[in-house]
Amino acid sequence: MNDLENLRQEYRKSQLDETDMMENPLNQFLKWFDEVQHAGIHEPNAMTLSTVDMYGKPSSRVVLLKGVSDGGFVFYSNYQSNKAKEIDNNPNGYINFLWLELERQVRISGIISKVSRDETEEYFHSRPRGSQIGAWVSHQSSVIQSRDVLEKKLEELENHYKDMDIIPVPVHWGGYRLLPETIEFWQGRPNRLHDRILYTKVGEDSWKIERLSP
Ligand SMILES: Cc1cc2nc3c(=O)[nH]c(=O)nc-3n(C[C@H](O)[C@H](O)[C@H](O)COP(=O)(O)O)c2cc1C
Repeated sequence: MNDLENLRQEYRKSQLDETDMMENPLNQFLKWFDEVQHAGIHEPNAMTLSTVDMYGKPSSRVVLLKGVSDGGFVFYSNYQSNKAKEIDNNPNGYINFLWLELERQVRISGIISKVSRDETEEYFHSRPRGSQIGAWVSHQSSVIQSRDVLEKKLEELENHYKDMDIIPVPVHWGGYRLLPETIEFWQGRPNRLHDRILYTKVGEDSWKIERLSP
C-alpha cells in the first residue's frame, strides 16, 4: 500500500455562504452544474446511484444524469437490471456527485419512479444508433458465458435493423426520475472545516435550508 495515511489535500478553491444559496436546490444544482461543465471535467454528469436491495442492503453503481426536469433527476437504464428490480421493490434512492476538480460534492436523497413512455421514446431516439442497438443487445446484470455472446448478438441485431431508419425502443429499457427529498451541497474548505448546506423539502415548492457541521 502506497503510504495512504500521508495522502492529504487542503481544499481552498471556494466557499459556500447561506446568503448566496438559491431558494430552490434544483436551481442551485443547475448553477453548480453549469460551473462544473465549464471546468473541463470528464463526464461531469456521472453520478453514483444507490438503491436498496431486497435484504435491505445498499447497492451502488454509476449512471449518467440525462436531465433535470419536472422537479427531479433523470437517468436511463434497463428495466430488468438489478437496479430496476431493487427500485421496483423499494423506490428509495440516493445520488452522489463528486467533482474533485472543484472540491465539491452533492448528495441527493429521494424517491425514484419511471418517466413516461413518451419521455423515454424521445430520449432513446436522440441517442447514437449504436447505443440504441446496444440497448437491445444487453440483458443488463444477467450472467453471460463470454464477450462473444454480446458481439454475436450485436452483429445479428445490426443486420436485423439495417434497413430500418427508426429502431424501436425496447420495452425493457427506459428512464427514471428521482424526486429529491433532501439535497446537500458540500464545498471543501481548509483544515477540514468544510461548508455543508442541506436543503430539506418541507412543502410542495418550499425547502428548509440549514448549515451542517463538517
Ligand atoms: C461512467 C459510467 C456511466 C454509466 N452510465 C450508465 C447509465 O446511464 N445507465 C446504466 O444503466 N448504466 C450505466 N453504467 C453502468 C452501471 O454502472 C452498471 O454497471 C449497470 O447499470 C448495471 O447495474 P446494476 O446491475 O446495479 O443494475 C455506467 C457506468 C459508468 C462507469
